[in-house]
Amino acid sequence: MGKLKIKKGVKKLFGIVILLALLLCIGIFSYIKIYNQKQYEKTYEYKLTNIGYNENEIDTILDKFKETEIEYILQNEKNDNYLNLVNEKYFIYDNFYEYIDYQKEHLDKPLTNIVEIINTETDKEYYTETTKTSISDKELMLVNKYHYLDESYKPETLVSISTTYAWGEYGSKKVTQETYDAFMNLWNDSHEQGYYLMVSSAYRDYNHQQSVYNDYKDSRGTEYADSIAARAGYSEHQTGYVIDMFEKGSTQKTFHETESYAWLLDNAHKYGFILRYPEDKEDVTGYSFESWHYRYVGIEAATYIYENHITFDEYYAYFVK
Ligand code: DAL
Ligand code: ZN
Repeated sequence: MGKLKIKKGVKKLFGIVILLALLLCIGIFSYIKIYNQKQYEKTYEYKLTNIGYNENEIDTILDKFKETEIEYILQNEKNDNYLNLVNEKYFIYDNFYEYIDYQKEHLDKPLTNIVEIINTETDKEYYTETTKTSISDKELMLVNKYHYLDESYKPETLVSISTTYAWGEYGSKKVTQETYDAFMNLWNDSHEQGYYLMVSSAYRDYNHQQSVYNDYKDSRGTEYADSIAARAGYSEHQTGYVIDMFEKGSTQKTFHETESYAWLLDNAHKYGFILRYPEDKEDVTGYSFESWHYRYVGIEAATYIYENHITFDEYYAYFVK
């Protein structure tokens, strides 16, 4: 009898232990589950999902944005522009907030255009908020309405172009050595194909540029002068990397109608030159179409600019700066 009681007691105890163990397991399991859930709620995945981003979008955000910008995205309602922007070909990370702010003010503008405008700073008024040109960029230095050269800046080497290829007296048309070499190759090849290009202007120092600008300003007013000539210090001509050229017999006005212009359009990049102020890019370059103004930037940059139909201002923002 005593033995049976003990056996029953042990069985009961065993049952209680199993029950307690079971409860403990459930407790631990629930705790882990709650803990994991709390941990998950702290993740960007969870927070982004809550705002409405899907799995693919979250992957892109986590892949392309840094912490500060992810926090910014989290503080705002779901906005497809963040993702569309980051997928833009010329998206520059440091410009992110500027793109967003500009977009808010210009809801009708396509994002590609917004990226282009912010990258090239053309949201700012010309000749305001200017920066000194980084001359160490050499043939890739940017000189435009926001980037200037000191009055005293002069290229280290300047080579005179022969009067066979340049108007005016010998010594009046000079360029840097690399520009000269590239031009001679271009000239010879174009000549072999029956064209005769003539240089009308090349290096211009600060004072020379000032008189070019003032001549336009005095005769046609400031607005016109600004559309066709740079103010002193803001001209690429001061870099020594520029050649204004047109076909013998044509004028600046008619050059774009000539076959040699068509040849230059297709071939200048092979020698490292770009048409610096194209017809459809006035809003980016700040200048009217200049069929005659060629800038030496080297073959690699020139080829990229030619193939991708972008301006040097855009190229500089994305690849050089
Ligand atoms: N014509 C160009 C813009 C210059 O003056 O540099
Ligand atoms: Zn020019």
